[in-house]
Amino acid sequence: MQQSGTSRYAETYALWRDDPSAFWGAAAKDIDWIRPAATVFDPDAGVYGRWFSGASANTCHNAVDRHVAAGRGAQAALIYDSPVTGAKRTISYAELQDETRVLGAVLADMGVKKGDRVVIYMPMVSEAVIAMLACARIGAIHSVVFGGFAAKELATRIEDAEPKVILAASCGIEPSRVVAYKPLLDLAITMSAFKPDGCLVLQRPEGPCTLVEGRDLDWAASCAAARAAGKGADCVEVAATDPLYVLYTSGTTGKPKGVVRDSGGHMVALRWSMENLYGIAPGEVFWAASDIGWVVGHSYIVYAPLLMGCTSIVYEGKPVGTPDPGAFWRVIEEHKVVALFTAPTALRAIKKEDPDCTFRQGRDMGHFRTLFLAGERADPDTVKWAEEKLGVPVVDHWWQTETGWAIAGNPVGLGLLPVKLGSPTVPMPGYDVQIVDEAAKPVPAGTMGSIVIKLPLPPGCLPTLWQQDERFTESYLADYPGYYKTADAGFMDDDGYVFVMGRTDDIINVAGHRLSTGGMEEVIASHPDVAECAVIGVKDELKGEVPCGFVVLKAGERRAPDVIEKELVGLVRDRIGPVAAFKLAVTVNRLPKTRSGKILRGTMKKIADHDAWSMPATIDDPVVLEEIEGVLKERGIG
Ligand code: COA
Ligand code: AMP
Repeated sequence: MQQSGTSRYAETYALWRDDPSAFWGAAAKDIDWIRPAATVFDPDAGVYGRWFSGASANTCHNAVDRHVAAGRGAQAALIYDSPVTGAKRTISYAELQDETRVLGAVLADMGVKKGDRVVIYMPMVSEAVIAMLACARIGAIHSVVFGGFAAKELATRIEDAEPKVILAASCGIEPSRVVAYKPLLDLAITMSAFKPDGCLVLQRPEGPCTLVEGRDLDWAASCAAARAAGKGADCVEVAATDPLYVLYTSGTTGKPKGVVRDSGGHMVALRWSMENLYGIAPGEVFWAASDIGWVVGHSYIVYAPLLMGCTSIVYEGKPVGTPDPGAFWRVIEEHKVVALFTAPTALRAIKKEDPDCTFRQGRDMGHFRTLFLAGERADPDTVKWAEEKLGVPVVDHWWQTETGWAIAGNPVGLGLLPVKLGSPTVPMPGYDVQIVDEAAKPVPAGTMGSIVIKLPLPPGCLPTLWQQDERFTESYLADYPGYYKTADAGFMDDDGYVFVMGRTDDIINVAGHRLSTGGMEEVIASHPDVAECAVIGVKDELKGEVPCGFVVLKAGERRAPDVIEKELVGLVRDRIGPVAAFKLAVTVNRLPKTRSGKILRGTMKKIADHDAWSMPATIDDPVVLEEIEGVLKERGIG
C-alpha cells in the first residue's frame, strides 16, 4: 500500500483492518446515543450482519439539537442561495431546531408515526432539507424523489414506499422554465395503486398551484397554525438499525431499487468521513453542489455537514447560466466555502463556457481549500484544468447510492496521498476492495476485472433493499459469494490505487445522474410501432454519456421514421423525465446480435464512440454492424 511521509492513511486503514469493531466503536463515540450498542457488529443479524445492533439514537438530534445544546444555536446551519429566484436565506441551528420541531408536529398531526414513510418531491429549497430532518426527528422514513423525474417514476416510488404523506412544492425552477411539480404529483397519485392519506404543499410564488380539497394542506398555513398552537415535536428514539430513509436508484430494469439507509451506522460513517476524508472542522462552510434527490445530496448537503456542526449550502442553480460560469466562484467567495463537492460534468460545463476561468478572477477564494469530485469518472483533462485554475487539490472519490459514502478517496483529513490522475485513490477504512475475474478469483495488479467489496460492508452502506431482501441478495451478493458486487469494472495498481473504468451492467451516467438503459428500453418497446430496440450510452463531451436508442420498426409501418423517433423522445421524457436526456432515437433495419440472439450493445457503443472495435466472432450477420456504423456516420452521432 502506498505510504506517504505525512499521511496517516496507511496506519488508519491498518487499524480498521486489524479490528473493525474497535475502529467503528471508537468512531461511534462522536455520536450522541440514547442507548449505546452492546455489539458494534452483529454478524448474525440482517442479510450480511448489522452495525450497532441494540443501540438507539435520533439523527435529527445529532444533526441539529445537540449543536444548539452545545452552544452553536446562533451559527448558520443552512445557507439557501437561489440564483434562479434571487432568494437567499440563512437558517441558524436554533432556527433549524424550531423549524424541524414545528414541521415534525404538522406531520404528526397528519398521522405520521415512527416507521411510516414520507415521500418528498421538492426542488432545492431549504424547506426540503427541513422536511428530511423533520421526518428523522419523528422517526419517519423519508424517500426523496428527484424533481427531474416524470409522474410515472414518482408513481412507481409511491407504490413501493407506500407513504402515509407526501411533501411537495408547487414548482421547481429550471433556468429555462418553471417546472410545475403539482400536476406531476397529482398524476402520480392517480397512477399509483397506493394512495397517501394527505399531501403538504409548499406554495412558491413563481408557480402556485391548486390544492386538492380533503387531501392537500398548505405548508405555510399548517406550520403557522402549529406554531401558534405552541406545537413542537421532540426527537423520537429510534434503533440504530431502523431505516432513516429509502432512496430509489436505477437498477437494470425499469423498477428502481429502494436503497435502505439505517440510522446509526449512517451517522457514524458520515461523521467519520467529514473529518477524515473531507478534512472539515465544525463551524466551517461545506458545499455539495448536487440535489437532495441524489445520494450526494442526502449525505453531503444534509446529514454529514450537519452532523459535523458545519454550515451547509443549499444551492438552487446551475454551474452555468445562473447567471454565468462564475456562479460557483461567487458562492464560494460570498459564503466562505472551504470545500466544494460537485460532479466533473459541472466543471466541464464551466470550462466549456469559460475556458480561461476569467470569472474566477477578482474573487477572494483564499479560504477555499479543496475541490471534491464524484458521481462519474473524473477525466484527467478536467481534473488538470481545475487544479490549474483553482490552485487547490482536486480530489476524486468513488462511491454509489448503495454505499452512501466513499468507497475510495484521497483522505484530506488524514493527509493527502499523491494524486494519480484517473484514480479516485485508495479504499477507505471499512472497504476491503478487490478485483476479481468472472470466477470470483482475484486478478493480479493492473489487470481489469469486476470490483467487489468483501463483506461486511462498513457502517453507512445499505443493509438491504426496501422490503426486498431477496432482490438485494440476488442483485449484489449472489454473483460473488462473500462479496458485494459494485457492478463497476476497473483495476488496482501496485500501490493499491483503485481505477474505476465503467459499469458492468446497463447503467449509464448522464451528467452525473445514474440512469438505466433497460428502463428506457422498456419505455421505447411500449410504442406500438417499435418491433425491438436497444439503448446504449454514447460519449458526450459535456455530460460524459448520453443515451442513444436504436429502434427497429414493425414491418409494414407506413409512418416516417423521423416522426416515430420524435414520438419516442417525447415518450421517454414523459415516462422517465427530462433528466434522462434522451434525445437520440435512430431507426435501423436490424439490431446486431450474436447467433444466440444477444444484442451486441458493447460493440455498438464502441462504434458510436469511435473506439477501436473488431467484429465479434459470435455475430450472426456482420453486415448489420456495418449498417449501424453507416447510419451513425450519416446522422453525425458519436
Ligand atoms: N426538476 C425538473 N427538471 C429538471 C431538474 C429538476 N430538479 N433537474 C434537471 N431537470 C431537467 C433540465 O431542465 C433538463 O431539461 P431540458 O431537457 O428541458 O433541458 C434535463 O432535466 C437535463 O438536466 P441536466 O442534467 O441538469 O442537464 P442540463 O443540460 O440542464 O445541464 C449541467 C447540464 C452539466 C450543467 C448539469 O447537468 C449539472 O449541473 N450537473 C451537475 C451534476 C450533478 O449535480 N450531479 C449530481 C450528482 S453529484
Ligand atoms: P450513483 O449511485 O448515482 O452515485 O452512481 C454510482 C456510479 O457512478 C458508480 O457505480 C460508478 O459507476 C459511477 N461513479 C461514481 N463516482 C465515480 C468516480 N469517482 N469515478 C468513476 N465512476 C464513478
